Amino acid sequence: MFDLTGKVAIITGGASGIGAAAVRTFHQLGASITIGDIQADAGQALASELGDRVRFSRLDVTSQGDWESAVEQTEAAFGPVNVLVNNAGHPGHWKPASELALEEFRMVCAINQEGVFLGMKLVLPSMIRAGGGSIVNNSSGYGLVGAANNLDYCASKFAVTGMTKAAAIEFAPSNIRVNSVHAGVVLTPMVEETMKSLGADADLFIARMPLNRPAAPSEIASVFAFLASEAASFVTGAALPVDGGLTAQ
Ligand SMILES: NC(=O)c1ccc[n+]([C@@H]2O[C@H](COP(=O)([O-])OP(=O)(O)OC[C@H]3O[C@@H](n4cnc5c(N)ncnc54)[C@H](O)[C@@H]3O)[C@@H](O)[C@H]2O)c1
Repeated sequence: MFDLTGKVAIITGGASGIGAAAVRTFHQLGASITIGDIQADAGQALASELGDRVRFSRLDVTSQGDWESAVEQTEAAFGPVNVLVNNAGHPGHWKPASELALEEFRMVCAINQEGVFLGMKLVLPSMIRAGGGSIVNNSSGYGLVGAANNLDYCASKFAVTGMTKAAAIEFAPSNIRVNSVHAGVVLTPMVEETMKSLGADADLFIARMPLNRPAAPSEIASVFAFLASEAASFVTGAALPVDGGLTAQ
């Protein structure tokens, strides 16, 4: 597919779903990876399964100190970081705005928005030491279009779309590319739990997608790999839908 030999990556939310698929894909393509996640058991188990080129670091993306340790541990193990995949996320509370508490709104923005800001800011010095790199921010289809009962998630994911473009311009002189990815429905634990708690039918969402099926996590991971690789050497500041045509309508 794409060669990632010699790349040193941090993948947040790498213990589950799309992030875990990205860890597997990047490993297969030759990268060394730190899985950064709050789920220590699952993250550690995936790192142990894949072997020497994969490590786990307990990383809450809202914590500046955790980011600093993750970067330090990655550099010590593999060298300067040249790929960052900001993938960890919260699904939002799926409530009408009138019922959404300020604390709930802030919590989603702390993980999905501030977490991406902290990641880009705190990995930057390492990437400059590496001579450049690629940052892939996992936004969402809801970082391009709105949805009812989704103010917290939309706010945080549109922020990711905007921060990506600002960072792409700012970091370009350091040979660092920054792009965002916008998935539609991917059947992962996050989506399954959200659908269950809402009593929603996944088929209703899927029927709105021209390709008429959910994505497999590996179909998002392969786009992350493209953006991380030299095959995407002139792609920066892009917001790339990977949504089966959902936002083309
Ligand atoms: N599944 C979809 O349909 C879909 C669609 C569009 C975008 N996304 C985005 O993809 C990303 C991954 O979601 P997924 O569907 O794979 O869900 P998932 O629940 O399978 O994985 C999310 C991971 O993020 C981790 N995480 C949560 N809070 C964290 C924190 N504070 N610090 C570090 N790690 C944390 C979780 O432990 C988990 O491993 C999210 O940003 C989500 O918004 C998902």
